[in-house]
Amino acid sequence: MSKFVEVAKIEELKSGTMKKVFAEGHEILLARVGDKYYATDNQCPHMKGDLSQGKLEGTIVTCPVHGSQFYVSDGQVVRWLKGGLMSKLGSALKMSRPLRAYNVKVEGGKVLVEF
Ligand code: FES
Repeated sequence: MSKFVEVAKIEELKSGTMKKVFAEGHEILLARVGDKYYATDNQCPHMKGDLSQGKLEGTIVTCPVHGSQFYVSDGQVVRWLKGGLMSKLGSALKMSRPLRAYNVKVEGGKVLVEF
């Protein structure tokens, strides 16, 4: 049975920022865009890059290691690697993998993630 677990207070994140949090044995990327909060796995599915050290533009996070991009809203891949030959090869071989995305809700000034 799933449950919602507090991972942060709403004032810990400004719009357009993200941070790494730990909860229920998971390393989570928590991002805020406007008044919406999103949670995905923090480790890049390519080679475990720390996405919290990457760049957040709108709802797209870019991995700091090789430049893969994902939607923080649903974890889907925007771009696998930085482009070029490796990216095309990755797409052709269906190597790209999405991030796991979690349900998030805000209650009483707290950000809660569903596990
Ligand atoms: S580790 Fe993220 S793109 Fe390689």
